[in-house]
Amino acid sequence: MCGIIGYCGHRPAVPVILEGLRRLEYRGYDSAGVAFVQQDALHVERAAGKLCNLEKRLEGQNVFQATSGIGHTRWATHGLPIEKNAHPHTDTARRLAVIHNGIIENFQELKNGLQACGCVFASDTDTEVLAHLLASFLDQGLPVAKALSLTLCRVEGTYALVVVSLDEPGVLYAARKSSPLVLGVGVGENFLASDIPAFLTYTRDVVFLEDGEMVRIDASSFAVMDAATLAPITKDVKRITWDVAAAQKGGYKHFMLKEIFEQPKVIADCLAGRVDLAAGRALLPELASLPTPERLFIVACGTSFHAGLWGMYLLEQWAGVPTRVEIASEFRYRDPILLPGDVVVAISQSGETADTLAGIRLARERGAKVIGLCNVVGSSVARESDVVVYTQAGPEISVASTKAMCSQLTALTLLALSLGEITGRMSRQARVDCLANLEKLPSVLEAELPRMRERAAVLAKTFSESSSFLYLGRGPYYPLALEGALKLKEISYIHAEGYAAGEMKHGPIALIDPRFPTFALAPVDELFPKVKSNLEEVQARGGKIIALTNPGSDLRVDHVWEIPKAWGPLTTFLMLPALQMFAYEMADYLGKDVDQPRNLAKSVTVE
Ligand code: F6R
Repeated sequence: MCGIIGYCGHRPAVPVILEGLRRLEYRGYDSAGVAFVQQDALHVERAAGKLCNLEKRLEGQNVFQATSGIGHTRWATHGLPIEKNAHPHTDTARRLAVIHNGIIENFQELKNGLQACGCVFASDTDTEVLAHLLASFLDQGLPVAKALSLTLCRVEGTYALVVVSLDEPGVLYAARKSSPLVLGVGVGENFLASDIPAFLTYTRDVVFLEDGEMVRIDASSFAVMDAATLAPITKDVKRITWDVAAAQKGGYKHFMLKEIFEQPKVIADCLAGRVDLAAGRALLPELASLPTPERLFIVACGTSFHAGLWGMYLLEQWAGVPTRVEIASEFRYRDPILLPGDVVVAISQSGETADTLAGIRLARERGAKVIGLCNVVGSSVARESDVVVYTQAGPEISVASTKAMCSQLTALTLLALSLGEITGRMSRQARVDCLANLEKLPSVLEAELPRMRERAAVLAKTFSESSSFLYLGRGPYYPLALEGALKLKEISYIHAEGYAAGEMKHGPIALIDPRFPTFALAPVDELFPKVKSNLEEVQARGGKIIALTNPGSDLRVDHVWEIPKAWGPLTTFLMLPALQMFAYEMADYLGKDVDQPRNLAKSVTVE
């Protein structure tokens, strides 16, 4: 969702803030703004659209004196994406400015009360109530910390917010509840941001803030306190191990392309230290404190949900543990029956997805243990789960998730192997074979990716005028069909539907005609003959077909796309990048904004 950054230090603040916003722009990009105190006045500049519009506004302005300030990129929740709704928002007297990520649920009630007291609102946002409410407490002569604490007591909803005020120039206050906020601790400078890449050029030392905490920063110090009582809280400073290069494009045209190409390394990193090949053992010591699950519930959203659905096939077949996979926004509201012995696996790249977090809370309330399968260290999913298995994909910047899914599949494979050993359902030899083949995947994929890209580019051009696609797969390749369709629609805006191949004749087959292409996942495995006959049904109705298959298949379709075969369901790891690459090449060919598709945001911190 929205990206926020605050800076206090010895450098001109505005360039630091703009650089941070550029690194956060993937979080939201319908408008942007900055606020800072210079020559005893509060300056606010905002612009609708992408960050470059704000930069144009600031060009030629004298913005180099301020050494502290705040900045925001917005993903609209309340109010159209127009300039008046861009953050920062101020009070009527322009005594302070606030940026916010989240939703103030009782904003209408607060707004009515403030308007009755004479406040004039300049935007349609929920955030603006924070500025007026805070100012009303400052007007009573309260210091900023106390005024912010009282404001937060009145607010219902979610927030990560940062405040700059004329009352304390050179100081920022921030607080969080259910929206991410990290503090970057530098030398003679401190940072606040919704995500680490915003300040990683300057420091790798971070403090993860918890819900209900407030922080005050200036150039040389920071103080964390309880937002309700203002009692001081001692926090550990943690060192981030990945570096700026990991969060930059590194010569690729887009982050998405770079992240697709990173997948061999992602698999290797996720496996590192987790394989005892001789024993045929997947090492996940994180799980040692948990009982063997009697049933598993996997809860996730979007691409992470597709990864979970894929995991179900392995967990049931290899470990014999009954597994249900649920869309988090459904799970959280449907009164699920959780029994003693049930374990919930919450999958989330960002670790901040609101629905997944709500699913974790519900599961724990009902006595289930929760495994967080998560990429971002210190994120809310990581902190709220009983145990965490980090997927170790490194920062994923492109809004469309690619390498994160690859890492989730790797971690789920390890989980299935580990449970398969515990339940005794998977033989040692099968585990050894699987692990040996998993370890080979990075080099096979590395060699394949350039070829894959070339083929994807040709196919994308061939099908660039199609307005709709059907993706088909069976077994573990059904979740891949869903993912292929999701990738295509989210970045190229071409309608696509993923379907279980066997389900096609129950409805979607009515759509098939020469202008409605099918993208099939047809690995040469025990289900191949079934997929093949489904594709014959498509051909019989004049439908064009692209089929991802393995060498040696006897498929006769319009476009046979051969990908090397791997052991068992591990062929998935070689087919997933082909789907991602096809969507990427299609979006790029059509001139779409690949890394920042319209209407989307990287981490969905609202429900
Ligand atoms: C699609 C995509 C989304 C996310 C979903 C969950 O490319 O990125 O569907 O997978 O919003 O996000 P996380 O995994 O951060 O919980």
